[in-house]
Amino acid sequence: MGLDIGSRNDGGPAPHRPARGVFRTKTVEQSLADTEEPGHGLRKELSALDLVVYGVGVIVGTGIFVVTGSVAKQYAGPAVSLAFVAAGVVCALAALCYAEFASTVPVAGSAYTFGYASIGELPAWIIGWDLILELALGAGVVAGGWSGYVRSLLSHAGIDVPAALSHQNGGYGFDVLAAALVLVLTGIVMMGMKLSARITGLVVATKITVVLIVIFAGLFYITGSNYKPFLPPSQPNTGTGSTLHAPLVQVMFGFTPSSFGVMGIFSAAAVVFFAFIGFDIVATAAEETRHPQRDVPRGILGSLVVCTVLYVAVSLVVTGMQKYSDLDTSAPLASAFKAVGAPFWSGLISFGAAVGLTSVVMILLLGQTRVFFAMSRDGLLPRAFSQVHPKYGTPYRTTVLLGVVVALIAGFFTVDELEQMVNIGTLFAFVVVAVGVIVLRRTRPDLHRAFRAPWVPVLPVLSVCASLWLMINLSVETWLRFAGWMAVGCAVYFGYGRSHSRLARGRDGAPAR
Ligand code: ALA
Repeated sequence: MGLDIGSRNDGGPAPHRPARGVFRTKTVEQSLADTEEPGHGLRKELSALDLVVYGVGVIVGTGIFVVTGSVAKQYAGPAVSLAFVAAGVVCALAALCYAEFASTVPVAGSAYTFGYASIGELPAWIIGWDLILELALGAGVVAGGWSGYVRSLLSHAGIDVPAALSHQNGGYGFDVLAAALVLVLTGIVMMGMKLSARITGLVVATKITVVLIVIFAGLFYITGSNYKPFLPPSQPNTGTGSTLHAPLVQVMFGFTPSSFGVMGIFSAAAVVFFAFIGFDIVATAAEETRHPQRDVPRGILGSLVVCTVLYVAVSLVVTGMQKYSDLDTSAPLASAFKAVGAPFWSGLISFGAAVGLTSVVMILLLGQTRVFFAMSRDGLLPRAFSQVHPKYGTPYRTTVLLGVVVALIAGFFTVDELEQMVNIGTLFAFVVVAVGVIVLRRTRPDLHRAFRAPWVPVLPVLSVCASLWLMINLSVETWLRFAGWMAVGCAVYFGYGRSHSRLARGRDGAPAR
């Protein structure tokens, strides 16, 4: 298929570092050869357009439909549109690094695979473990957001979901709608990419139509005075904000925690960053793409550009329709239309949001199964999980296992509880990928790169700094939880992955060295 896989299994033609210890690297040739292994390879049937559809399908979701309102209200006012620009710039820098990697190593597993090829096994494991966090929690969070919209649509129809079967009013309960959605989508993902891509295409079309309605119908309801002040002046946080809830940067440098002002734009950017999560997932479909070298970079960058333009437009329109301090925090787009006396549009937007969030959950589920699959294929997780289904050609065991876990997460947790965790996990992956681009350029300059990120190493270094900057704008509590998850990951690696790694044991299961 035009892939130069060199001499397959036993060491490629190009020089590479010896595979020793936890920093042993898997050669790009090995990664590519694994995709051809009988019973462990995925079908190649996606085009660039499919990837853009996938990208937009997973990117546009809770971030724009839900988070915009609370962020405008708490951190940035109408300048939330600038926060979207700032977060978009951070993502664009990372996207260029992802694009280079995906075009060089078009293998399932995204940042995990890239890390394995460049920095080494332990860092790759860490990033894979981190991606599982991002994708599994992300899917759970968005399923929770979806359930909220569906409940509101149902209540329009006079059907009220009992509080014990949701998280209404912050009470305890098990969100059955969210859990059911995850299980149904797990079934669809298990049945194969083709079916997933078709359904996603339909859902994405609905979602984009609704976003465009917000932008164009909303234009007629804008009141200029709502933009004043565009960037509200900085105010000290008067809330209960303990050290745990303050952004790490404020604790580190002893700032008084504050909202709005220029710092508010960055706090807002660290939160609305959630709205951009997903473009990296396009890279997880690299192995299933017909012409990955050409189409994966197009898919990643294309979906990112489309989403950034939509976000800036939506946030400008919504903050122009309603004073930022009056925006609703659970369904801001629909509520803004209600507030200006346009209930028809409001209902339609709720419907579109419910439909749109479905595809986000599905693609997050898909992405996590592919990362898990890649880690299992490498022996870092039990090999049984990378067995593909004889009929559907998908890693069905992984899909079912993770689907059930995510359904439980979606049932028990709320959006607010987990959203920042998803952000920190994703930003961490960006850092590793950017470092990986620099390392691979030095260790494997010979590799064919269909897409080369410009200004290396300056651009990846900027990407690392920008991602770290957003990370330290997240709360201390998020950092502590993240550290806990990573500690568990290290224990699993040293307890299992290190000794079962196929790279350590040799391709044919030779004894570990
Ligand atoms: N970007 C996705 C969303 O906003 C995760 O829901």
